[in-house]
Amino acid sequence: MLILAIESSCDETAAAVVKDGRKVLSNVVASQIEIHSKYGGVVPELASRAHIESIYPVTEKALSDADTDISSINAVAVTYGPGLVGSLLVGVSFAKALAYALNVPLIAVNHLEGHLLSSIIEHGKVEFPYITLVVSGGHTNIYLVKAIGEYKLLGYTVDDAAGEAFDKVAKMLGLGYPGGPVIDKIAKEGEMGKIKFPKAVVRGKKLCFSFSGVKTAVLTYLKDKGFYDKRRQIILSEEMSKQFKADVARAFQESVVDVLVEKTLSAAKHYNCKVVTIAGGVACNSALRQKMYDECKREGMKLYIPNASYCIDNAAMVGIAGYYKFKREGVGATLSLNAEPRARL
Ligand code: KG4
Ligand code: ZN
Repeated sequence: MLILAIESSCDETAAAVVKDGRKVLSNVVASQIEIHSKYGGVVPELASRAHIESIYPVTEKALSDADTDISSINAVAVTYGPGLVGSLLVGVSFAKALAYALNVPLIAVNHLEGHLLSSIIEHGKVEFPYITLVVSGGHTNIYLVKAIGEYKLLGYTVDDAAGEAFDKVAKMLGLGYPGGPVIDKIAKEGEMGKIKFPKAVVRGKKLCFSFSGVKTAVLTYLKDKGFYDKRRQIILSEEMSKQFKADVARAFQESVVDVLVEKTLSAAKHYNCKVVTIAGGVACNSALRQKMYDECKREGMKLYIPNASYCIDNAAMVGIAGYYKFKREGVGATLSLNAEPRARL
């Protein structure tokens, strides 16, 4: 079964061709980072417009990379939510038109299910049950994956997503957008233990996250060190030394990574899982990958981390999740399918 998968939930326009829910024949992503970077975050209206411009060429490239003619496609899978409504609508409308014109099933995929199954892409088989941490600019969720199609949300963020916190702290340090990759890079030069930022505790919700506290702690620290102009209400990032920024980045990253690893492992222990996976843009973070690896090893757990191209938003994961959903349900979605910005899993 050849599935053409489409993903446009945030700021990446992606298309992939996936064979039998297993073999990724192509995986094309058009990033919009250049468009949004000057605004310091994703601008929804610009994202939708960019999706409209990219979706056709990206799909054509996915077909040609896979050496596949559109007439060989057996189904079209698409992310219907969660995400930005304008962005989702572009993918959903495009996929509906394609499925109708080709007279093939349309498969509606929850973006988060794609992330949960992304480890399967390279590793083929991941032993159930497993715990997945989905950590990106929009989500910080811990799921129990009992089997394909059986998911339980165990923890979530009560305020900012971890990636959002990386982006906001990077902005305070004048490092540009997206902030995660730059913080990851400069934190390597930071002095360990020089600064300590708090780790958030969410009362009554042991597996939930909160990152607004550490973000405020960074701001307070910068103010205390004299890098804030009260009159103009701006942070004076250009006055900070390279080493100072690196020390702050390291301490911030450590605080976020510690809590991500701690709660993921605590979920794994509680549910007796011997396997852990991570996905989402922040799963590219080198400190998170290393610490998760070390701690899993210490606890005798197996860790699967997808390659960076399958951690970030991509359509291959949508093709895999779509294949299994179609196999489970036996029927596709109707043409009345709509975007669901707050879709839950
Ligand atoms: O999954 P993704 O590409 O898009 C969504 O948010 O859905 O994730 C983007 C987020 C951004 O917040 C970015 O700063 C963060 O992932 N990110 C990282 C790293 N690479 C990307 N955060 C920390 N370290 C990284 N190396
Ligand atoms: Zn995502």
